[in-house]
Amino acid sequence: VPTLPLSRRSLLTAISAGAAGLALPNLVANAARAAGTKEFTLRAAPGRTRLAPDLHGETPAWGYNGAVPGPEIRVRQGERLRIMVENALAEKTTVHWHGVRLPNAMDGVPHLTQRPIAAGETFIYEFDAVDAGTFWYHPHQRSFEQVGRGLYGPLIIEEAEPSRVDREVTWVLDDWRLTQSAEISDDFGNRHDISHGGRVGNTVTINGRVPDKFPVRSGERVRLRLINAANARIFGLDFRDHAPTVIALDGQPVTPHEPLNGLVVLGPAMRVDLIIDMTGEPGSRAAVTDRFYEGLEYRLVDFAYDRSRLREGPPDWPVALPANPLPEPDPAMARRHDVVFNGGMMGAMVMREMGGSMGQGGSGGMGGGMMGMMRGNGIWFINGKAAEGHVLDPMLTLERGRSHVIAMTNATAWHHPMHLHGHSFRVISRDGAPTAHREWQDTVLMAPRERVEIAFVADNPGDWMFHCHILEHQATGMMGVVRVA
Ligand code: C2O
Ligand code: CU
Repeated sequence: VPTLPLSRRSLLTAISAGAAGLALPNLVANAARAAGTKEFTLRAAPGRTRLAPDLHGETPAWGYNGAVPGPEIRVRQGERLRIMVENALAEKTTVHWHGVRLPNAMDGVPHLTQRPIAAGETFIYEFDAVDAGTFWYHPHQRSFEQVGRGLYGPLIIEEAEPSRVDREVTWVLDDWRLTQSAEISDDFGNRHDISHGGRVGNTVTINGRVPDKFPVRSGERVRLRLINAANARIFGLDFRDHAPTVIALDGQPVTPHEPLNGLVVLGPAMRVDLIIDMTGEPGSRAAVTDRFYEGLEYRLVDFAYDRSRLREGPPDWPVALPANPLPEPDPAMARRHDVVFNGGMMGAMVMREMGGSMGQGGSGGMGGGMMGMMRGNGIWFINGKAAEGHVLDPMLTLERGRSHVIAMTNATAWHHPMHLHGHSFRVISRDGAPTAHREWQDTVLMAPRERVEIAFVADNPGDWMFHCHILEHQATGMMGVVRVA
């Protein structure tokens, strides 16, 4: 295995390459025409990185352009991206542009939208930045290991007129399972992880470093872009006295609001954009904690205030972001589709191990004949089917151009961040109650036993992945294809 020094952030070249040549996909008919093409190169390769000063040295990891996270790709809305991906790993890979509405052939799903990029090969992705927002990129090939070893990076698409702030910051959160000698534990895909909450680790990083303090100034207004790149860890960030305002979820603007119960929750793959006014006293420190898992609260990082003040009190600048060009679904006219998730520990897996003698007790939601409906050897099931190998047959076919409601039931004892490719959807209800913000998401976190309805216009033709973003769940059945035709 070749080793190269990984710098925390490597330089990325952005070359203006003239006007876009290819036609926009149907979904962006109303979007701004590509203003120009920005070119980038991402090279996936093994290397070494220092995750924390007090760890026993460097950690062998996989990264893009020698960095964990990979370089921040940043363009303006309406520009076109052309990204050459070089595979210097010893195995196949692809890159998926999570949350970006793009043509199907650019979606980076091996066997479904492209041939995997073999070791030593390159592949060029090219698409328009239709929506402004906070996105990210990661492999879709053996993601539970490739992402888990460090392959991911932020993709930021700037609004033409962003909300005014003093400073903009991106925090890519990750969670590593390290051994005593700071190596990545190689127990990827073990039976306990896959049947429970996925690979939750023991070392949390921000932008590839175990954080200590984050320097701020009193009176400063910061836009914080949070990205959860962890395989399985769910974050519930508590900013205490720093009452943040949520302005976007999964890249899409939302009515500015305070986080529910003061907690900024990010399931794997989710993004939250916050506006935070630094209201502390010069010279003080304020902890940001993560208290998602009960009894496991820890201090993530401290806001460390400079001795000098930037201004007295917070500025009165407006915080709302301009909307993206998303087609508005009409739930009243929509086709309805029911989707039920089963499996995992205390679900179908236990039932199988007990020879099905538990009946429907552990599964909820489905009839007594459920065991007969379970197909395959998977651990997790969507509508009674566990995806195995390359998933090609659609579990749902959606009429193109129409509104659709997908009514999802989580009949398991576990959280699942459910992700649909190629579209953003409105989350319209939870457990039968309308949501306060009808937020646009591409990944919706479902609590155990929760029911969630999403609505969207299926305007982007092709075969799209629909899966749980706990990557161990995705790999063991919780995945399907939604066809838009
Ligand atoms: Cu971020 Cu199909 O994944
Ligand atoms: Cu899951």
